Amino acid sequence: MRAAARVSTPSRVLPPNDPRQYDDLVDEWWRPDGAFAMLHWLARARAALVPPASSQDALLVDLGCGAGLLAPHLAGKGYRHVGVDLTRSALDQAAAHGVTVLQGDAVAVPLADGCADVVSAGELLEHVPDWRRAVAEACRLLRPGGLLVLDTLNDTLLARLVAVEIGERLPTVPRGIHDPRLFVDARALVAECARHGVALRVRGVRPAIGGTLAWLLRRLRGGEGPAAPGAPTADGPTGTVVPAPRIVPTRSTAVLYQGHGVRSG
Ligand SMILES: C[S@@+](CC[C@H](N)C(=O)[O-])C[C@H]1O[C@@H](n2cnc3c(N)ncnc32)[C@H](O)[C@@H]1O
Repeated sequence: MRAAARVSTPSRVLPPNDPRQYDDLVDEWWRPDGAFAMLHWLARARAALVPPASSQDALLVDLGCGAGLLAPHLAGKGYRHVGVDLTRSALDQAAAHGVTVLQGDAVAVPLADGCADVVSAGELLEHVPDWRRAVAEACRLLRPGGLLVLDTLNDTLLARLVAVEIGERLPTVPRGIHDPRLFVDARALVAECARHGVALRVRGVRPAIGGTLAWLLRRLRGGEGPAAPGAPTADGPTGTVVPAPRIVPTRSTAVLYQGHGVRSG
């Protein structure tokens, strides 16, 4: 197990998963080719699981919203987007992207039971010391018939290898951002959601290989990123259009997986 790791840009050394890393990486959030690039790809895939709002006052609560990367992908779906996060510097950016922000812990959210039509927990649970409490909170916030959407990393050796040992050496993931001891066993997550009335279905996902290789190549060549998340981008030297990589389903949930499920009642 690693004791400490250096994040990719700043000068100080912080322990794995230390939330202060997000302050050090504050300028990376909205750079489509920055240290959080893959979060943009995942946000698009997560938003695709969210249907258009069924009422005018529909509320989506985005737990661990970070800088609000989900916001552009929800545009036009009709939700009031409330984001909850520990990190003030990220929330300031989320607010600038139209998210109503609340600074706080995802395990104790100051919102009423059953207030949310949708709760999103994108790349959050693997950062919370007690992910079960965050799941309980997500389910508490959902109204009966409401939808939980999430993505996270599985508690497997393969996930440690791919997401930490390999992923954190690539420009898609900041170094030291994960503590693999917090990774979330997919079966345990399904069972925990069921205990709280949400029938969660999970499926493995990964970045499409061709698109990711093209993206990495462009990064290595120093090409420009897309102007907006998901937009096609021109590869400087050749003028070739390179879209941001897509997140695609994969048979195994052993590394990265998405979940979605409706609350009963
Ligand atoms: C990997 S980022 C994901 C951000 C966002 N969901 C996205 O996909 O772009 C994890 C975020 O969770 C936040 N976070 C970590 N632990 C948290 C907690 N216990 N409560 C609320 N937010 C938390 C961090 O501050 C960070 O913004």
